[in-house]
Amino acid sequence: MAFERFPIRQLFEDPANVLDRRSWPATLPAVAHLLDHGLDLSPATVFVGENGSGKSTLVEAIALSYGLSPEGGSTGAQHTTRSTESELANHLQLVRNAGTTRRGYFLRAETMHGLFTYLELNPRAPQHEQDLTFHQMSHGESFLELVMDRFRGRGLWLQILEVGSWGIRPKPWDELDLVANWQAFLSSPQRYLKHL
Ligand SMILES: Nc1ncnc2c1ncn2[C@@H]1O[C@H](COP(=O)(O)OP(=O)(O)O)[C@@H](O)[C@H]1O
Ligand SMILES: [Mg+2]
Repeated sequence: MAFERFPIRQLFEDPANVLDRRSWPATLPAVAHLLDHGLDLSPATVFVGENGSGKSTLVEAIALSYGLSPEGGSTGAQHTTRSTESELANHLQLVRNAGTTRRGYFLRAETMHGLFTYLELNPRAPQHEQDLTFHQMSHGESFLELVMDRFRGRGLWLQILEVGSWGIRPKPWDELDLVANWQAFLSSPQRYLKHL
């Protein structure tokens, strides 16, 4: 299969540097699950869960241990404005697929404005084509333009992991509460709107 050589295959806790389970972020069930059981990744993994369940904490730690900035951008972009990430990345080890790329991109909606400013302040060398003017686009436009410009790989294979009080568990798309709720809403919006 074309995508079996994606860069990160697995994450696990560094046995030489374990994280104290009594303090945050190890108190989050999803983080404890990752530390206790490790986590196998697929070519594309989606974390789904309630606000505060630990999705951003997991994604930030994966990005950091891969060598990306917690505030987003490519592996070359190391801008940071205010550090808020957990210690988790310092306690993780990555298993990379041999011979795969070391390059990466952390596409992160909440820090996009700062990343665009960083790109503007660090322009490409004059002999290269100049970058897109992201700050002169709407948020949606800039997001899509960035994706079209930076990501040229083929296809997308998804693994959906649901994060919550149980830790981390695989969940088929059509069994997610999120999907069921949206399907119910879209098939009969008036049932919901009459309560407003
Ligand atoms: N620096 C921090 N110290 C202690 N708790 C934090 C810190 N940052 C976030 N949290 C808590 O960790 C939990 C998980 O946050 P987060 O990973 O951002 O959740 P989400 O799944 O919504 O992305 C939240 O309950 C949040 O309050
Ligand atoms: Mg989040």
